[in-house]
Amino acid sequence: MTADIAVYGATGFVGKLTARYLAEHAPEGVTVALAGRSREKLERLRTELGPRAADWPVLTADSADAASMRTLAESARVVATTVGPYAKHGLPLVEACANAGTDYADLTGEVLFMHETITRYHAAAERSGARIVHNCGFDSIPSDIGTLLLHEAAGEELEDTTLVVRALKGGPSGGTLASGMGEMDAAKSSRDLANVVNDPYALSPDREAEPDLGPEAGVRGPVHDDELGMWLGPFVMASINTRVVRRSNALQGWAYGRRFRYREAMGMGSGAAGRAKATGLSVGLGALFAGLSFGPTRKALEAVLPSPGEGPSEKTQQSGFFRIDVHTRTASGARRVCRITAQGDPGYAATAVMLGESALCLAGDRAGLPERAGVLTPATALGAALAARLRAAGHTYDVG
Ligand SMILES: NC(=O)c1ccc[n+]([C@@H]2O[C@H](COP(=O)([O-])OP(=O)(O)OC[C@H]3O[C@@H](n4cnc5c(N)ncnc54)[C@H](OP(=O)(O)O)[C@@H]3O)[C@@H](O)[C@H]2O)c1
Repeated sequence: MTADIAVYGATGFVGKLTARYLAEHAPEGVTVALAGRSREKLERLRTELGPRAADWPVLTADSADAASMRTLAESARVVATTVGPYAKHGLPLVEACANAGTDYADLTGEVLFMHETITRYHAAAERSGARIVHNCGFDSIPSDIGTLLLHEAAGEELEDTTLVVRALKGGPSGGTLASGMGEMDAAKSSRDLANVVNDPYALSPDREAEPDLGPEAGVRGPVHDDELGMWLGPFVMASINTRVVRRSNALQGWAYGRRFRYREAMGMGSGAAGRAKATGLSVGLGALFAGLSFGPTRKALEAVLPSPGEGPSEKTQQSGFFRIDVHTRTASGARRVCRITAQGDPGYAATAVMLGESALCLAGDRAGLPERAGVLTPATALGAALAARLRAAGHTYDVG
Protein backbone atom coordinates (compact mmCIF):
# COMPACT_ATOMS: atom_id res chain seq x y z
CA MET A 1 0.00 0.00 0.00
CA THR A 2 1.25 3.51 -0.75
CA ALA A 3 0.77 5.82 2.24
CA ASP A 4 0.02 9.50 1.68
CA ILE A 5 2.75 10.48 4.14
CA ALA A 6 5.63 8.59 5.77
CA VAL A 7 7.17 10.20 8.85
CA TYR A 8 10.80 9.05 8.82
CA GLY A 9 12.65 9.38 12.13
CA ALA A 10 9.30 9.08 13.90
CA THR A 11 11.00 7.80 17.06
CA GLY A 12 13.25 10.88 17.45
CA PHE A 13 12.33 13.96 19.48
CA VAL A 14 10.79 16.10 16.74
CA GLY A 15 9.71 13.04 14.73
CA LYS A 16 7.45 11.93 17.60
CA LEU A 17 5.94 15.40 17.89
CA THR A 18 5.25 15.44 14.15
CA ALA A 19 3.68 11.97 14.23
CA ARG A 20 1.51 13.07 17.14
CA TYR A 21 0.50 16.24 15.29
CA LEU A 22 -0.60 14.16 12.29
CA ALA A 23 -2.46 11.69 14.52
CA GLU A 24 -4.41 14.63 15.94
CA HIS A 25 -4.82 16.80 12.83
CA ALA A 26 -4.56 14.79 9.59
CA PRO A 27 -7.96 14.71 7.90
CA GLU A 28 -9.80 11.37 7.90
CA GLY A 29 -8.67 9.32 4.93
CA VAL A 30 -5.06 10.58 4.94
CA THR A 31 -2.86 7.53 5.48
CA VAL A 32 0.34 7.91 7.47
CA ALA A 33 3.22 5.42 7.83
CA LEU A 34 5.68 5.52 10.72
CA ALA A 35 9.24 4.90 9.56
CA GLY A 36 12.54 4.56 11.40
CA ARG A 37 15.34 2.16 12.12
CA SER A 38 13.78 0.27 15.05
CA ARG A 39 10.55 -1.70 14.55
CA GLU A 40 10.16 -2.15 18.29
CA LYS A 41 10.34 1.59 18.99
CA LEU A 42 8.00 2.36 16.08
CA GLU A 43 5.40 -0.10 17.30
CA ARG A 44 5.61 1.35 20.81
CA LEU A 45 5.10 4.83 19.38
CA ARG A 46 2.09 3.68 17.33
CA THR A 47 0.46 2.38 20.52
CA GLU A 48 1.18 5.67 22.32
CA LEU A 49 -0.46 7.62 19.47
CA GLY A 50 -3.84 6.01 20.18
CA PRO A 51 -6.72 4.79 18.03
CA ARG A 52 -6.19 7.15 15.06
CA ALA A 53 -2.78 5.54 14.45
CA ALA A 54 -3.78 1.95 15.24
CA ASP A 55 -3.71 0.83 11.60
CA TRP A 56 -0.79 3.01 10.45
CA PRO A 57 1.87 0.86 8.79
CA VAL A 58 5.32 0.65 10.31
CA LEU A 59 8.37 0.66 8.03
CA THR A 60 11.93 -0.09 9.05
CA ALA A 61 14.61 1.70 7.05
CA ASP A 62 18.22 2.50 7.93
CA SER A 63 19.68 5.52 6.17
CA ALA A 64 22.93 3.59 5.60
CA ASP A 65 21.02 1.05 3.48
CA ALA A 66 20.29 2.50 0.01
CA ALA A 67 17.83 -0.29 -0.85
CA SER A 68 15.70 0.50 2.21
CA MET A 69 15.73 4.20 1.20
CA ARG A 70 14.34 3.22 -2.22
CA THR A 71 11.65 1.09 -0.58
CA LEU A 72 10.73 3.98 1.71
CA ALA A 73 10.55 6.45 -1.19
CA GLU A 74 8.32 4.06 -3.13
CA SER A 75 6.01 3.39 -0.21
CA ALA A 76 4.65 6.93 0.23
CA ARG A 77 3.63 9.96 -1.85
CA VAL A 78 5.36 12.26 0.64
CA VAL A 79 8.23 11.51 3.03
CA ALA A 80 8.64 13.93 5.96
CA THR A 81 12.01 13.22 7.54
CA THR A 82 13.54 14.25 10.85
CA VAL A 83 16.52 11.90 10.55
CA GLY A 84 19.46 14.18 11.20
CA PRO A 85 22.18 15.38 11.18
CA TYR A 86 21.18 15.47 7.53
CA ALA A 87 24.72 15.77 6.19
CA LYS A 88 25.42 12.45 7.92
CA HIS A 89 22.17 10.56 7.22
CA GLY A 90 20.18 12.50 4.64
CA LEU A 91 21.61 12.17 1.12
CA PRO A 92 20.44 8.59 0.31
CA LEU A 93 16.82 9.49 1.04
CA VAL A 94 16.95 12.66 -1.08
CA GLU A 95 18.44 10.61 -3.91
CA ALA A 96 15.74 7.94 -3.58
CA CYS A 97 12.89 10.49 -3.51
CA ALA A 98 14.35 12.51 -6.40
CA ASN A 99 14.56 9.34 -8.53
CA ALA A 100 11.17 7.95 -7.51
CA GLY A 101 9.25 11.23 -7.98
CA THR A 102 8.28 11.21 -4.29
CA ASP A 103 7.72 14.54 -2.55
CA TYR A 104 9.97 15.17 0.43
CA ALA A 105 10.01 17.60 3.38
CA ASP A 106 12.71 17.94 6.03
CA LEU A 107 13.94 20.13 8.88
CA THR A 108 17.49 20.66 7.81
CA GLY A 109 19.29 23.89 8.58
CA GLU A 110 22.57 22.61 7.16
CA VAL A 111 23.76 24.79 4.26
CA LEU A 112 26.40 22.26 3.14
CA PHE A 113 23.82 19.48 2.95
CA MET A 114 21.43 21.61 0.90
CA HIS A 115 24.26 22.74 -1.36
CA GLU A 116 25.04 19.09 -2.03
CA THR A 117 21.44 18.02 -2.69
CA ILE A 118 21.05 20.92 -5.13
CA THR A 119 24.26 19.99 -6.96
CA ARG A 120 23.53 16.27 -7.06
CA TYR A 121 19.75 15.83 -7.21
CA HIS A 122 18.00 19.00 -8.40
CA ALA A 123 18.04 17.88 -12.04
CA ALA A 124 16.83 14.34 -11.22
CA ALA A 125 13.99 15.71 -9.11
CA GLU A 126 12.98 18.11 -11.88
CA ARG A 127 12.84 15.16 -14.29
CA SER A 128 10.81 12.91 -11.97
CA GLY A 129 8.54 15.72 -10.74
CA ALA A 130 9.61 15.36 -7.08
CA ARG A 131 9.38 18.38 -4.84
CA ILE A 132 12.34 18.17 -2.46
CA VAL A 133 11.57 20.76 0.21
CA HIS A 134 14.19 21.53 2.83
CA ASN A 135 13.77 23.85 5.84
CA CYS A 136 10.15 23.02 6.75
CA GLY A 137 10.51 24.09 10.40
CA PHE A 138 11.25 27.26 12.36
CA ASP A 139 14.13 27.56 9.98
CA SER A 140 13.10 28.69 7.46
CA ILE A 141 9.30 28.81 7.10
CA PRO A 142 8.60 32.15 8.85
CA SER A 143 11.44 33.85 6.92
CA ASP A 144 10.59 32.34 3.56
CA ILE A 145 6.78 32.45 3.68
CA GLY A 146 6.81 35.89 5.37
CA THR A 147 8.90 37.36 2.55
CA LEU A 148 6.76 35.69 -0.13
CA LEU A 149 3.57 37.13 1.39
CA LEU A 150 5.13 40.60 1.61
CA HIS A 151 6.04 40.43 -2.07
CA GLU A 152 2.56 39.24 -3.06
CA ALA A 153 0.89 41.99 -1.02
CA ALA A 154 3.23 44.72 -2.28
CA GLY A 155 2.66 43.83 -5.94
CA GLU A 156 6.08 45.28 -6.77
CA GLU A 157 9.75 44.54 -6.19
CA LEU A 158 11.25 44.63 -2.71
CA GLU A 159 14.49 46.29 -1.67
CA ASP A 160 15.92 46.45 1.88
CA THR A 161 14.19 43.71 3.86
CA THR A 162 14.94 42.88 7.51
CA LEU A 163 13.45 40.12 9.60
CA VAL A 164 13.39 41.17 13.25
CA VAL A 165 12.79 38.61 15.99
CA ARG A 166 10.78 40.64 18.53
CA ALA A 167 10.41 37.87 21.11
CA LEU A 168 11.24 34.21 21.29
CA LYS A 169 11.06 31.60 24.02
CA GLY A 170 12.50 28.17 23.35
CA GLY A 171 15.71 26.25 22.97
CA PRO A 172 17.54 24.01 20.52
CA SER A 173 17.13 20.21 20.62
CA GLY A 174 20.07 17.83 20.98
CA GLY A 175 19.55 16.90 17.31
CA THR A 176 19.75 20.56 16.22
CA LEU A 177 22.96 21.10 18.19
CA ALA A 178 24.49 17.92 16.72
CA SER A 179 23.60 19.17 13.21
CA GLY A 180 25.05 22.66 13.85
CA MET A 181 28.28 21.29 15.29
CA GLY A 182 28.63 18.87 12.37
CA GLU A 183 28.45 21.76 9.91
CA MET A 184 30.90 23.82 11.97
CA ASP A 185 33.40 20.92 11.94
CA ALA A 186 33.02 20.38 8.19
CA ALA A 187 33.62 24.07 7.47
CA LYS A 188 36.74 24.00 9.67
CA SER A 189 38.10 20.98 7.81
CA SER A 190 38.10 22.49 4.32
CA ARG A 191 38.54 25.96 2.85
CA ASP A 192 36.16 25.09 -0.03
CA LEU A 193 33.40 24.08 2.37
CA ALA A 194 34.01 27.20 4.49
CA ASN A 195 33.63 29.29 1.33
CA VAL A 196 30.24 27.68 0.66
CA VAL A 197 29.06 28.28 4.23
CA ASN A 198 30.18 31.93 4.08
CA ASP A 199 28.69 32.67 0.65
CA PRO A 200 25.42 34.65 1.01
CA TYR A 201 24.29 33.04 -2.27
CA ALA A 202 25.46 29.51 -1.36
CA LEU A 203 22.12 28.01 -2.41
CA SER A 204 21.66 29.97 -5.61
CA PRO A 205 20.60 27.95 -8.67
CA ASP A 206 23.01 30.06 -10.77
CA ARG A 207 25.70 31.70 -8.63
CA GLU A 208 27.19 33.71 -11.51
CA ALA A 209 23.82 35.28 -12.32
CA GLU A 210 23.28 36.69 -8.80
CA PRO A 211 23.43 40.48 -8.48
CA ASP A 212 26.40 42.15 -6.81
CA LEU A 213 24.85 44.15 -3.99
CA GLY A 214 28.09 44.70 -2.09
CA PRO A 215 28.84 43.08 1.28
CA GLU A 216 25.91 41.07 2.63
CA ALA A 217 27.41 39.86 5.90
CA GLY A 218 24.25 40.62 7.88
CA VAL A 219 24.04 41.67 11.52
CA ARG A 220 27.07 40.30 13.39
CA GLY A 221 27.35 42.77 16.24
CA PRO A 222 25.22 45.52 17.81
CA VAL A 223 23.89 47.94 15.16
CA HIS A 224 21.33 50.72 15.38
CA ASP A 225 18.73 50.75 12.61
CA ASP A 226 17.50 54.33 12.32
CA GLU A 227 14.56 53.45 10.09
CA LEU A 228 13.26 50.79 12.51
CA GLY A 229 14.26 52.91 15.51
CA MET A 230 15.90 50.07 17.44
CA TRP A 231 19.11 48.26 18.25
CA LEU A 232 19.68 44.95 16.47
CA GLY A 233 21.80 41.98 17.53
CA PRO A 234 22.76 38.77 15.71
CA PHE A 235 20.16 36.04 15.17
CA VAL A 236 21.63 32.50 15.18
CA MET A 237 19.45 31.18 12.36
CA ALA A 238 20.22 34.10 10.01
CA SER A 239 23.05 32.35 8.19
CA ILE A 240 20.62 29.61 7.10
CA ASN A 241 17.41 31.54 6.55
CA THR A 242 18.99 34.32 4.47
CA ARG A 243 20.39 31.79 1.98
CA VAL A 244 17.01 30.05 1.71
CA VAL A 245 15.14 33.32 1.07
CA ARG A 246 17.71 34.33 -1.59
CA ARG A 247 17.27 30.92 -3.26
CA SER A 248 13.50 31.50 -3.29
CA ASN A 249 14.05 34.83 -5.04
CA ALA A 250 16.33 33.26 -7.67
CA LEU A 251 14.05 30.23 -8.28
CA GLN A 252 11.24 32.69 -9.03
CA GLY A 253 13.37 34.48 -11.63
CA TRP A 254 14.34 37.16 -9.08
CA ALA A 255 10.67 38.12 -8.67
CA TYR A 256 11.46 39.94 -5.39
CA GLY A 257 13.86 42.08 -7.40
CA ARG A 258 17.50 42.32 -8.39
CA ARG A 259 18.00 44.91 -5.64
CA PHE A 260 16.45 42.69 -2.95
CA ARG A 261 18.72 42.79 0.12
CA TYR A 262 17.74 40.47 2.95
CA ARG A 263 19.03 40.15 6.53
CA GLU A 264 17.81 38.85 9.89
CA ALA A 265 18.41 40.09 13.42
CA MET A 266 17.16 40.04 16.99
CA GLY A 267 15.32 43.25 17.93
CA MET A 268 16.82 44.51 21.19
CA GLY A 269 14.82 47.71 21.79
CA SER A 270 15.80 51.36 21.77
CA GLY A 271 18.03 53.68 23.78
CA ALA A 272 20.85 52.75 26.12
CA ALA A 273 19.07 49.62 27.35
CA GLY A 274 18.66 48.35 23.76
CA ARG A 275 22.29 49.05 23.04
CA ALA A 276 23.42 47.16 26.17
CA LYS A 277 21.22 44.17 25.30
CA ALA A 278 22.47 44.05 21.69
CA THR A 279 26.06 44.21 22.93
CA GLY A 280 25.49 41.51 25.55
CA LEU A 281 23.90 39.19 22.97
CA SER A 282 26.73 39.71 20.49
CA VAL A 283 29.39 39.00 23.12
CA GLY A 284 27.51 35.96 24.48
CA LEU A 285 27.00 34.39 21.05
CA GLY A 286 30.60 35.07 20.09
CA ALA A 287 31.77 33.30 23.27
CA LEU A 288 29.47 30.32 22.62
CA PHE A 289 30.78 29.81 19.06
CA ALA A 290 34.38 30.27 20.21
CA GLY A 291 33.74 27.72 22.98
CA LEU A 292 32.24 25.21 20.55
CA SER A 293 35.15 25.47 18.13
CA PHE A 294 37.85 24.89 20.79
CA GLY A 295 38.30 21.24 21.91
CA PRO A 296 38.43 21.46 25.72
CA THR A 297 35.60 24.03 26.09
CA ARG A 298 33.55 22.11 23.50
CA LYS A 299 33.69 19.00 25.68
CA ALA A 300 32.55 20.99 28.71
CA LEU A 301 29.68 22.59 26.74
CA GLU A 302 28.59 19.26 25.24
CA ALA A 303 28.25 17.89 28.77
CA VAL A 304 25.66 20.55 29.68
CA LEU A 305 23.85 21.00 26.33
CA PRO A 306 21.10 18.47 25.34
CA SER A 307 22.26 15.28 23.52
CA PRO A 308 20.58 13.89 20.37
CA GLY A 309 17.15 12.51 21.28
CA GLU A 310 16.80 14.97 24.20
CA GLY A 311 14.60 18.05 24.45
CA PRO A 312 12.49 19.99 26.94
CA SER A 313 9.41 18.86 28.86
CA GLU A 314 5.91 19.07 27.38
CA LYS A 315 5.15 22.03 29.67
CA THR A 316 8.23 23.96 28.56
CA GLN A 317 7.43 23.24 24.92
CA GLN A 318 3.88 24.52 25.22
CA SER A 319 4.97 27.72 27.01
CA GLY A 320 7.35 28.64 24.20
CA PHE A 321 6.43 31.10 21.43
CA PHE A 322 7.86 33.45 18.81
CA ARG A 323 6.96 36.88 17.47
CA ILE A 324 8.68 38.01 14.29
CA ASP A 325 8.28 41.04 12.02
CA VAL A 326 9.56 41.09 8.45
CA HIS A 327 10.01 44.72 7.36
CA THR A 328 10.52 45.76 3.77
CA ARG A 329 10.98 48.89 1.70
CA THR A 330 9.56 48.38 -1.80
CA ALA A 331 10.98 49.72 -5.05
CA SER A 332 8.54 52.66 -4.91
CA GLY A 333 9.63 53.45 -1.33
CA ALA A 334 6.55 52.08 0.47
CA ARG A 335 7.16 50.43 3.83
CA ARG A 336 5.35 47.20 4.67
CA VAL A 337 5.58 44.61 7.41
CA CYS A 338 4.54 40.98 7.83
CA ARG A 339 3.85 40.10 11.46
CA ILE A 340 4.30 36.42 12.27
CA THR A 341 3.46 34.76 15.58
CA ALA A 342 3.04 31.25 16.90
CA GLN A 343 2.49 29.64 20.27
CA GLY A 344 4.76 26.70 21.23
CA ASP A 345 8.51 26.28 21.41
CA PRO A 346 9.80 27.37 17.98
CA GLY A 347 12.06 24.32 17.45
CA TYR A 348 9.64 21.74 18.88
CA ALA A 349 5.90 22.35 19.20
CA ALA A 350 5.73 25.05 16.50
CA THR A 351 8.13 23.15 14.22
CA ALA A 352 6.00 19.98 14.46
CA VAL A 353 3.01 22.04 13.24
CA MET A 354 5.09 23.46 10.37
CA LEU A 355 6.50 20.09 9.25
CA GLY A 356 3.14 18.34 9.69
CA GLU A 357 1.32 21.00 7.66
CA SER A 358 4.06 21.00 4.98
CA ALA A 359 3.58 17.24 4.56
CA LEU A 360 -0.23 17.61 4.47
CA CYS A 361 0.17 20.44 1.96
CA LEU A 362 2.33 18.29 -0.35
CA ALA A 363 -0.08 15.37 0.00
CA GLY A 364 -3.39 17.21 -0.20
CA ASP A 365 -2.97 20.52 -2.01
CA ARG A 366 -1.19 19.38 -5.19
CA ALA A 367 -3.53 21.19 -7.57
CA GLY A 368 -2.96 24.51 -5.79
CA LEU A 369 0.84 24.34 -5.56
CA PRO A 370 3.26 26.24 -7.80
CA GLU A 371 4.16 24.17 -10.86
CA ARG A 372 7.72 23.41 -9.93
CA ALA A 373 9.87 20.40 -9.13
CA GLY A 374 13.47 19.99 -7.98
CA VAL A 375 15.24 20.95 -4.78
CA LEU A 376 12.98 23.75 -3.61
CA THR A 377 12.27 26.03 -0.66
CA PRO A 378 9.03 26.29 1.34
CA ALA A 379 8.03 29.45 -0.54
CA THR A 380 8.71 28.07 -4.02
CA ALA A 381 7.24 24.60 -3.39
CA LEU A 382 4.29 25.34 -1.10
CA GLY A 383 3.77 29.11 -1.20
CA ALA A 384 0.38 30.56 -0.27
CA ALA A 385 -1.17 27.10 0.25
CA LEU A 386 1.14 26.54 3.21
CA ALA A 387 0.43 30.02 4.59
CA ALA A 388 -3.30 29.23 4.53
CA ARG A 389 -2.72 25.95 6.36
CA LEU A 390 -0.51 27.53 9.02
CA ARG A 391 -3.07 30.27 9.64
CA ALA A 392 -5.76 27.61 10.05
CA ALA A 393 -3.45 25.86 12.54
CA GLY A 394 -3.23 29.05 14.65
CA HIS A 395 -0.03 30.68 13.36
CA THR A 396 -0.38 34.33 12.39
CA TYR A 397 0.89 35.81 9.10
CA ASP A 398 -0.51 39.37 8.92
CA VAL A 399 0.73 41.67 6.18
CA GLY A 400 0.24 45.39 6.74
N1 LIG B 1 14.57 23.43 11.24
C1 LIG B 1 14.16 23.45 12.48
O1 LIG B 1 13.55 24.39 12.90
C2 LIG B 1 14.47 22.26 13.34
C3 LIG B 1 13.87 22.12 14.58
C4 LIG B 1 14.15 20.97 15.31
C5 LIG B 1 14.99 19.99 14.80
N2 LIG B 1 15.59 20.18 13.59
C6 LIG B 1 16.46 19.16 13.00
O2 LIG B 1 15.75 17.93 12.94
C7 LIG B 1 16.64 16.85 13.12
C8 LIG B 1 16.08 15.94 14.21
O3 LIG B 1 16.10 16.59 15.48
P1 LIG B 1 15.70 15.79 16.79
O4 LIG B 1 15.88 16.70 17.93
O5 LIG B 1 14.38 15.13 16.58
O6 LIG B 1 16.87 14.69 16.79
P2 LIG B 1 16.87 13.24 17.44
O7 LIG B 1 15.94 13.19 18.57
O8 LIG B 1 18.30 12.92 17.65
O9 LIG B 1 16.26 12.29 16.28
C9 LIG B 1 17.02 11.79 15.22
C10 LIG B 1 16.25 10.65 14.55
O10 LIG B 1 17.11 10.09 13.54
C11 LIG B 1 17.07 8.68 13.66
N3 LIG B 1 18.29 8.06 13.10
C12 LIG B 1 19.58 8.30 13.47
N4 LIG B 1 20.40 7.55 12.71
C13 LIG B 1 19.62 6.86 11.85
C14 LIG B 1 19.87 5.93 10.81
N5 LIG B 1 21.11 5.55 10.50
N6 LIG B 1 18.83 5.44 10.11
C15 LIG B 1 17.56 5.81 10.40
N7 LIG B 1 17.26 6.67 11.38
C16 LIG B 1 18.27 7.18 12.09
C17 LIG B 1 16.92 8.41 15.14
O11 LIG B 1 16.43 7.08 15.31
P3 LIG B 1 16.32 6.39 16.76
O12 LIG B 1 15.07 6.91 17.38
O13 LIG B 1 16.21 4.93 16.42
O14 LIG B 1 17.55 6.75 17.53
C18 LIG B 1 15.90 9.49 15.48
O15 LIG B 1 14.59 9.03 15.16
C19 LIG B 1 18.00 17.45 13.45
O16 LIG B 1 18.80 17.39 12.29
C20 LIG B 1 17.69 18.88 13.80
O17 LIG B 1 18.74 19.76 13.42
C21 LIG B 1 15.35 21.29 12.88
